Amino acid sequence: MMNAYVTGATIKQLRELKALTQAQLAETLGVTAKAVSKWETGKGLPDITLIEPLAGALGVSVSELMSGDVVQNNNVSSNLIRSKFYICPLCGNILHTTGRAVVSCCGITLPPLEAEETDDAHTITIEKVEDEYFVTVPHPMTKEHFISFIAHLTMDRLQMVKFYPEGNAETRFSLRGGGFLYLYCNKHGLMKKKV
Ligand SMILES: [Fe+2]
Repeated sequence: MMNAYVTGATIKQLRELKALTQAQLAETLGVTAKAVSKWETGKGLPDITLIEPLAGALGVSVSELMSGDVVQNNNVSSNLIRSKFYICPLCGNILHTTGRAVVSCCGITLPPLEAEETDDAHTITIEKVEDEYFVTVPHPMTKEHFISFIAHLTMDRLQMVKFYPEGNAETRFSLRGGGFLYLYCNKHGLMKKKV
């Protein structure tokens, strides 16, 4: 199950990016130019058997074609600080990318989470212990409302600690390199605090 079928606007946009005419795209797929024109103007939809060849002809993945979210990463030397987190609302899967991506889980395309600043109900306390830091999030840890993970992110290092209901949201980090601490609350989302 996908959250959306390919749209005419996406086909048109990608075809034009590829500098293909409707006739050229049609020929590659073994359909008529009229058929391509109909897809692009919302008067028809390509058959499911054409989705993979269509994605191939347009130079994108099936997932990108279906979601309409086309990714072009120009910065190959990705910096971890610009990392994105994605959480699947259905199964709780945690995904992390260092650049933009189309990420899907359980059949839905996941948006990259935008981290808010930590608030009064989601504070992060940091206490120096020997050569490490004891990091605590005082927050409910019930099945309905809990901290799912804490992460420490710098330019070149990601540390993530997973928590479960009935446990304590506390861990030790080296906190070398400054960066940011992230927490994820299953109800209130992703938050961050500069170290
Ligand atoms: Fe919360």
